[in-house]
Amino acid sequence: MLENMAENMNHSNNILLEARGLGKTFPGADQAISVLDGVDFALRAGESVSIRGESGSGKSTLLNLLSGLERADAGQLFWQGSEVTRYSLSKLAASRTLFMGFVFQAYYLAPELNALENVLLSARIAGRVDRAVRERAEALLVRVGLKERIRHSSTKLSGGERQRVAVARALINDPPLVLADEPTGNLDESTGMAVMDLLLEITDESAKSLVLVTHNPDFAARTERQLTLHLGKLGS
Ligand SMILES: Nc1ncnc2c1ncn2[C@@H]1O[C@H](COP(=O)(O)OP(=O)(O)O)[C@@H](O)[C@H]1O
Ligand SMILES: [Mg+2]
Repeated sequence: MLENMAENMNHSNNILLEARGLGKTFPGADQAISVLDGVDFALRAGESVSIRGESGSGKSTLLNLLSGLERADAGQLFWQGSEVTRYSLSKLAASRTLFMGFVFQAYYLAPELNALENVLLSARIAGRVDRAVRERAEALLVRVGLKERIRHSSTKLSGGERQRVAVARALINDPPLVLADEPTGNLDESTGMAVMDLLLEITDESAKSLVLVTHNPDFAARTERQLTLHLGKLGS
């Protein structure tokens, strides 16, 4: 009994995100396609984990479920000990902006906005733009190597520069977690390497948890824990 209580306390103190038996099925032409079939996953605060898997194995689907961008058909998802699978869409969205930043393969910057405005957009969604937030956004853009590009239109930035903006955007609300879905997938080798160095350094120095989906075994090896998604299940 006492041991159980100690375990529960330990659990709520250290586990940032937990998935239990997550399942996702998509409708197919003839029959439904089961993409995730009982994914169990626990991520500690400050921990970095990589996920590899063949194309189509469900890596993006899994990140979309972990971030609550898509709903699971089965299982439970906990953020900081709260079961978010029970949340309304609006509560989930509000929680997400504070809980995680997301870096996508295709950057997804707003083309009509400059670098700074793109970073501030995430703060605006979280409802917080004041002088301190502006200064934080500028400092983040300097940190990601864009000191000379702060007010550049995002359409005038290179792929690597766009992804640097996306990394700054993911961190603007100071979330405990960053999810990155093949963040170097659209970049050439040396640019991808530089962006990956930055992502790993910046999440490490700010003690963020990181879930990194990547095809690159060298990048995967740089996280503390390496997992593989295969046949709908996550394993080591
Ligand atoms: N919205 C959707 N509707 C139907 N099928 C989908 C949808 N999203 C993904 N899928 C299917 O789920 C499988 C896994 O996709 P995905 O998660 O994108 O894989 P990965 O990121 O590992 O390449 C694929 O077979 C894909 O076609
Ligand atoms: Mg994918």
